[in-house]
Amino acid sequence: MRSDRRGPVRILTVTDANAPIMDHPSTTARTDTHRIVVLVSGTGSNLAALLTAHLAAEYGARVVGVVTDNPNAGGLNLAQDAGIPTAVVNPRDFDTRGEWDAALARAVAVFDPNLVVSAGFMRILGADFLAIFGGRTINTHPALLPSFPGAHGVRDALAHGVRVTGCTLHLVDAGVDTGPIIAQAAVVVEPNDDEETLQERIKTVERELLVDWVGRIARGTLTVTGRHVRIDF
Ligand code: GRF
Repeated sequence: MRSDRRGPVRILTVTDANAPIMDHPSTTARTDTHRIVVLVSGTGSNLAALLTAHLAAEYGARVVGVVTDNPNAGGLNLAQDAGIPTAVVNPRDFDTRGEWDAALARAVAVFDPNLVVSAGFMRILGADFLAIFGGRTINTHPALLPSFPGAHGVRDALAHGVRVTGCTLHLVDAGVDTGPIIAQAAVVVEPNDDEETLQERIKTVERELLVDWVGRIARGTLTVTGRHVRIDF
């Protein structure tokens, strides 16, 4: 694990699955607020929405770290602008998928999160990661699961000719977008939609859904019974 500085925020780059976990200086203080780590691979518009929401004390959740597989992810800049510490765990730095997955788990563990939010994180979380964070890792997907799982949910729904699609927030399990569903929202497909226009409309709805339900999870108690998720306040 090496550490460097980009602007005011220290960046951890994890390149060794066995490196000791170091406490991040700015993340050691615990409070009652739910601690969230956000996993991103790209632009980070969902992350941006969470970074706005967490500014309100009554939101009940705080983004304490952002972890990415992509050293060029736009989400890294958003995090750094917001003063949130980041870690890069690039699969290219590891010999096997398992080593990368273990290193990812260790990088997230540094932040001691209550909840891990995969928001535009374009990789499958593996056994080592889920052994630690299963049951408290959620993912946002741009389709109405169980239809159109995988990396191209918007494109696949459009190609199938559906008239309504949307987004799904779900718990992460070992499958691809198969975990118990927390919340969904529908988006109507317009006759002239292409992948880009539809994706933009989905992302607008998706951000609202994500912010709303992450707050509910933080302020409530989440129970999973079989495939059924319940949040009590
Ligand atoms: C979201 O639509 C997410 O569901 C999908 O990729 C998009 C990420 O967007 N997997 P962003 O990086 O949060 O802008």
